[in-house]
Amino acid sequence: MNRTLLIVKPDATDRNLIGHVVNRLEKARFKVVEMRMLTLTEEQARKFYAVHEGKPFLNDLVAFMTSGRVVPMVLEKENAVEDLRTLIGATNPANAACGTIRSEIALNIEKNSVHASDSNENAAIEIAFFFE
Ligand code: CMP
Repeated sequence: MNRTLLIVKPDATDRNLIGHVVNRLEKARFKVVEMRMLTLTEEQARKFYAVHEGKPFLNDLVAFMTSGRVVPMVLEKENAVEDLRTLIGATNPANAACGTIRSEIALNIEKNSVHASDSNENAAIEIAFFFE
């Protein structure tokens, strides 16, 4: 079994889509093993997205991620990191495959409803960020 981190982003919590996302995850045989709800501070959002330092979209991304509640959760499944990336679809919903979570509910490349860790190494870092 591997673990990965998913965050339900403010555009999705705002539209009452937390349950919808969890349902999609559970139907795809991910087990939710940790979950919480919080509003990120600017400092926390900048730290979480430190890998994007210097990117033109960072300030807008931080403003968006601090604009409402987020729901980070730890998910367990065989091949969790890769399978979750497949299930959520491409960053830009315009390019997300049919049937993926982002193709279904994401609004645009920034308000793309969910975040998922992109490697086992980053999953460990991101899980530790939200769950001691
Ligand atoms: P996420 O998977 O959380 O990782 C970085 C986030 O930056 C991404 O989803 C998008 O929400 C956001 N973002 C905004 N603009 C861009 C862009 N041009 N390229 C990549 N990510 C972007």
